[in-house]
Amino acid sequence: MGTEDAFYNREFKKGLKSERSKGGDELFKVRDGVFDRATLMTLYDLIKAERLGTVEGIVSTGKEANIFWGYTPDKKEVAVKIYRVAATTFRNMWQYLVQDPRFKRLNRQHRQIIYNWTKREYKNLMRVEDVVPVPKPYFVRNNVIVMDFLGKDGVAFPQLREVGPPNPERDFETLVRHMRSMYRQGIVHADLSEYNILVGEEKLYLIDFSQGTVLENPMAEEYLARDVENIIRFFRKFIKTPEPDAVLARIRGTTNE
Ligand SMILES: Nc1ncnc2c1ncn2[C@@H]1O[C@H](COP(=O)(O)OP(=O)(O)OP(=O)(O)O)[C@@H](O)[C@H]1O
Ligand SMILES: [Mg+2]
Repeated sequence: MGTEDAFYNREFKKGLKSERSKGGDELFKVRDGVFDRATLMTLYDLIKAERLGTVEGIVSTGKEANIFWGYTPDKKEVAVKIYRVAATTFRNMWQYLVQDPRFKRLNRQHRQIIYNWTKREYKNLMRVEDVVPVPKPYFVRNNVIVMDFLGKDGVAFPQLREVGPPNPERDFETLVRHMRSMYRQGIVHADLSEYNILVGEEKLYLIDFSQGTVLENPMAEEYLARDVENIIRFFRKFIKTPEPDAVLARIRGTTNE
């Protein structure tokens, strides 16, 4: 390990200890995986290249990614999605392996997988941004995606789960049409549910395309069926919903309705 790494590791451990003793949750999570040294370098590079202006604060801490908000140099409010490079389940193994010179490659490969995962979400967003409401993707770099911020001053629009559909009949219909539009673009969201839909002032936005996949994927139809079931299950609380098969037929375009 280089001296810089050793220094970082020492600071990292000190930080963990003090945050644990304070019982601090948010900070712990942030330091725990997101702002590892490579991620800090990525953010620093983006700021230096004047693609990103500032990172103001945290919006959400997830298992695989954390969402921050910030501004571009021309003061557009953006969401910064940062995939964890050291996921919790991986960290213990990883901590030991990176110290072993025989396993440097593994560390690089792990990182590369996360980077590809990040790039996939970005590509999915690019592919659907013209046909369904999503946060406009700006750019991707390593494990960081910068996109439009859905909300204002660091406060994101609520999830559909929290506030329910403003107009259930119409919203259900809209979501079926969105699934159909994505399908025509050759994309299945594959993680669609009331968690990954934000309720804006005028419309519903689809987010979190990390699992999104192309129709060429042999699992795509199965994922689509699951998305449809999730949406029906949620809307059943508000309206009388159609059968999944009828909805699937509409999405696939095998019916004229
Ligand atoms: N573009 C955005 N603008 C505003 N808020 C956002 C944006 N993207 C995400 N968020 C906020 O962060 C939360 C989590 O985002 P997202 O679903 O993309 O990540 P996640 O579920 O933590 O990721 P993963 O499941 O891939 O680990 C959202 O519910 C929302 O509150
Ligand atoms: Mg999500």
